[in-house]
Amino acid sequence: MDGYGPSTYGDRFADVYDDWYGDVSDADATVERVAALAAAAGSDRVLELGGGSGRLAVPLAARGIVTWTVDASLAMVRRLRDKPGGDRVHAVVGDMAALPLSARARFGVVLCAFNTLFNLTTIEAQRRCLADAAELIVSEDGRLVVESFVASYDEGAASGAVEPRHIGLDEVVLTVSRLDPASHTITGQHVQITEAGIRLRPWVLRYLSPEELDAVAAEAGLRLVERHAGWRAEPFTGESPIHVSTYALMPRG
Ligand SMILES: C[S@@+](CC[C@H](N)C(=O)[O-])C[C@H]1O[C@@H](n2cnc3c(N)ncnc32)[C@H](O)[C@@H]1O
Repeated sequence: MDGYGPSTYGDRFADVYDDWYGDVSDADATVERVAALAAAAGSDRVLELGGGSGRLAVPLAARGIVTWTVDASLAMVRRLRDKPGGDRVHAVVGDMAALPLSARARFGVVLCAFNTLFNLTTIEAQRRCLADAAELIVSEDGRLVVESFVASYDEGAASGAVEPRHIGLDEVVLTVSRLDPASHTITGQHVQITEAGIRLRPWVLRYLSPEELDAVAAEAGLRLVERHAGWRAEPFTGESPIHVSTYALMPRG
């Protein structure tokens, strides 16, 4: 999609993100799990990649975790800062494919939740992101945790779809998308139609299967420790729609 950059998604969704996605996943269980992993690493520091409006970062910080986020969208970061407790989050505007944090500022957990890794639209950017993340993990007890949908699209021809996302009295939201298995990319728009006019909310996802994610993580020096189907240690099976995958640094030397 010409003109689509790191901040596009956040800039175009910031005003509706909390309404549309505020309860998209189990935030309480995410916070519990991430806090437990940080404690197990002997750390009280967590970095969320693409933390957005603080759906997870704000409750993490409220628990006393020293919480940082790097998000490319100033509009999203403003939403976070405006929330009660948002001022407790260290929110940096930047590209998670070139993390603007010193490797001296290490974290017990680096979290990349709710498909956010797929917001990086090339495999090179995804590789850089995980390589940078690995540099920021505190020790072999620290963890990278990635949550995403399980991408299991048949290799084949590109295909498109238009689906109703929301039909209301004064509003219709249509999801227009095109899947390109060759590039592992889904390009879409949420087209929001009201009496006042049309808002276009573009998105691009470059998906990885769990096995492909493991391979990119291995290139970054990270090994899979565990994989679940959710934040409450649900067993991961071939039918699971999402996965929560936890990685640790491979022993060096
Ligand atoms: C799907 S939202 C998820 C937000 C949050 N993690 C959550 O679970 O609610 C993806 C976020 O990633 C951010 N993002 C997209 N590309 C990015 C990039 N290259 N670097 C940093 N943040 C990015 C967007 O601005 C957006 O806030």
